[in-house]
Amino acid sequence: MENIKNEVAVSIKGLNKTIGKRHILHDISFDAYSGEVFGFLGPNGAGKTTTIKMIVGLLSIDSGEISVCGAEIKKDFEGALKNIGGIVENPEMYKHLTGYQNLEHYARMREGITKERIDEVVALVGLSNRINEKISKYSLGMRQRLGVAQSILHRPKTLILDEPTNGLDPAGIKELRDILKKLAHEEGVCVIVSSHLMSEMELMCDRVGVIANGSMLGVYSIDELLAASAGATSDYIIDTDGGEKAVEIIKGVTEKVSLTEDGLVEVILDNNTHREDIAKINKLLIEGGAAVYTVSLKPKKKLEDVFIEMTSDTKEGGQIA
Ligand SMILES: Nc1ncnc2c1ncn2[C@@H]1O[C@H](COP(=O)(O)OP(=O)(O)O)[C@@H](O)[C@H]1O
Ligand SMILES: [Mg+2]
Repeated sequence: MENIKNEVAVSIKGLNKTIGKRHILHDISFDAYSGEVFGFLGPNGAGKTTTIKMIVGLLSIDSGEISVCGAEIKKDFEGALKNIGGIVENPEMYKHLTGYQNLEHYARMREGITKERIDEVVALVGLSNRINEKISKYSLGMRQRLGVAQSILHRPKTLILDEPTNGLDPAGIKELRDILKKLAHEEGVCVIVSSHLMSEMELMCDRVGVIANGSMLGVYSIDELLAASAGATSDYIIDTDGGEKAVEIIKGVTEKVSLTEDGLVEVILDNNTHREDIAKINKLLIEGGAAVYTVSLKPKKKLEDVFIEMTSDTKEGGQIA
């Protein structure tokens, strides 16, 4: 996050929801700031849509608080809602009308949306040269972008999109991602997007809140998650003809060394000293009469794996679709 000064845009405290006999949300709390893309990440059935519906006022709040730009939904519904734009279910659009006519139609239902504002949002979502075509001719990605245009017409300080990239192709995902980042980083909007894919959040978000089985597991910056997945150590695999002798030699540098089933030597080294250590080990092995064929760094865990581990640790077990 670089430019815009950040203040809390959406604040959620101790949110609970029971539908029928099912306690779906357990004490959900998090803050999302203006100027950031906040990812709401969790496996299918985790409670993302339920939470989002409560933020946009489509579902009632059992207990807890949701405030949008300082207005608490329970006390000042109008005040909260005027600062929210969102697409939760498929946005209502008229296929026989053009993109522009759809926006005009929507603008008539709200106050103070000028023709200039319509043109501005059309340009922002990159639809200027297709806006006079009927929506029936639009790709899913274009419809999704028109949906974003529609939800930001009234200049809400918060934009909430529930799994906006579902069904989009990679090019469509990138276009949408660039638009959402621009809105957050350049216009200072608080953008909240949900997803069940860590790989997607990694590219789109500044921070992610992880939810599983209706409980918040934590809120992390992407940098923190990357550091967590990188860990404090590096794993090296050394291919040598030395076998157990090589292991003994390496014990002069570290105790964390072992022989794999394939006869390779695995060494775990502290990230602060791993480069010097590997040079030392290499030298000792050669001096000890062992031929060293390759030294390779074992690939780190992917962020997606970290997320799956994190969410499948919960009692009922997470599920990734
Ligand atoms: N109207 C409802 N009645 C009963 N259970 C529901 C209802 N809506 C959602 N749920 C349940 O709540 C849980 C969370 O659902 P949802 O918020 O849609 O998850 P997500 O969007 O993360 O996939 C799921 O187990 C789902 O089956
Ligand atoms: Mg959902």
